[in-house]
Amino acid sequence: MRVLRLSLIVLLAFLISVSIAWASEDRVNKSISGLVWSTGKEGGLFGKSHSEEPVDLNDNDELDGGFSSLDGMLQWAIGHSDPAKLKDAAKSMQRLSDDELKQRQIEIQDLMEKLRMPSDAELMKVAIDDLNNISISLEDRLRALEELLVLVEPIDNANDLNKLGGVAAVISQLDNLDLDVRKLAAWVIGKASQNNPVVQNQVLELRTLAKLMKMVRSDVVEEATKALYAVSALIRNNFDGQKIFYAEAGDLMLKDILSNSTFDIRLRRKCVSLVGDLAECQLENTDKSELPFFSDHSFLKAIVDLALSDDLELQEKSLATIKILLQLRTTDASTFKDSCALDNALEKMRMQLRQLMEEEDQREYAMDVEILRREVELIFYKKLENVYHMATFSL
Ligand SMILES: *[C@@H]1O[C@H](CO)[C@@H](O)[C@H](O)[C@H]1NC(C)=O
Ligand SMILES: *[C@@H]1O[C@H](CO)[C@@H](O)[C@H](O)[C@H]1NC(C)=O
Ligand SMILES: *[C@@H]1O[C@H](CO)[C@@H](O)[C@H](O)[C@H]1NC(C)=O
Repeated sequence: MRVLRLSLIVLLAFLISVSIAWASEDRVNKSISGLVWSTGKEGGLFGKSHSEEPVDLNDNDELDGGFSSLDGMLQWAIGHSDPAKLKDAAKSMQRLSDDELKQRQIEIQDLMEKLRMPSDAELMKVAIDDLNNISISLEDRLRALEELLVLVEPIDNANDLNKLGGVAAVISQLDNLDLDVRKLAAWVIGKASQNNPVVQNQVLELRTLAKLMKMVRSDVVEEATKALYAVSALIRNNFDGQKIFYAEAGDLMLKDILSNSTFDIRLRRKCVSLVGDLAECQLENTDKSELPFFSDHSFLKAIVDLALSDDLELQEKSLATIKILLQLRTTDASTFKDSCALDNALEKMRMQLRQLMEEEDQREYAMDVEILRREVELIFYKKLENVYHMATFSL
């Protein structure tokens, strides 16, 4: 035990002496960040590299920004220490009494505290400086964006991003020739804007929405889905953003993607969710007049058709969106019946879901979707009844 403790103390002492040498060279900012990031490069810091990113970007916990700073330092120290020197140091340590050892321990603890890790703001600043540095390598540029992706997750950090010049720096990466850089930049913008009106408006002021909407049309699915993720995050519950979105023919973009089965299923899922968000925003703000887009026949039909998709997740998202659309004042129940055949679709879905419930691994999800389907059915027939009621009444 004593030997183990001794060698740990020696190691720490060595590590600290190295770190102090750095600090005295006035490089503490850069060198400590460099140290942490070099562990990140090997996959120890962020857990995942950009090439292994998960498919669904709405997942908020796919990256967890835990900086294992002390561990990273130790790893580095072990990798960089000179075995001969360590041995010498260990020998001299062994001659110390218990009291002297305890004293050493306290000194080391004090030193460790002084050597605090750089703050998130400092880390963001370094990443932003890297983005603004035109001579940096592609690999470093990608890493800077990956770091920002993790760093902007907490709302306080996202709010600091613009003060540090980060919003403009990330947006400028959308013009990069490298696909991965553009993709990551869109992802960072989306993550920083999510449920954050401050950042939403900062990004919107830099006229970024149109550019992101163009990216949604990219032939590369990964770029298109990340761009759509950013677009959704920017206009969610943001009327200024939605105004720009419609002015840039966002409704046509949604209609195209929803009604054309050649588009990737992930993109179509995100589109349906976005329509649901936009419709919900209308529903919650009754003082705003409803957009004609929401009662467009071909658009509604596209969504009802998607509810019959083989993809259960798309089916569920479509149902949830139909449920909201049905509750808007300007949508017409008879349109849902006559143009979209919602009654037939709901019946078909009921049978599909009943079959799915026979399958052990699908049962629970299928039951949830069935509950949602019944809710939609209820709202639909009630709305339809009102139409007939009104018709009779006016006779
Ligand atoms: C770290 O960098 C920041 C900004 O570049 C600077 O203000 C600060 O004084 C530096 N800290 C140290 C310990 O050098
Ligand atoms: C820009 O990046 C290059 C290459 O990594 C580096 O040598 C240079 O110091 C950086 N410039 C600034 C201003 O940080
Ligand atoms: C569907 O989208 C593809 C491109 O993804 C396009 O080439 C095709 O013309 C579209 N089809 C229709 C009917 O709009």
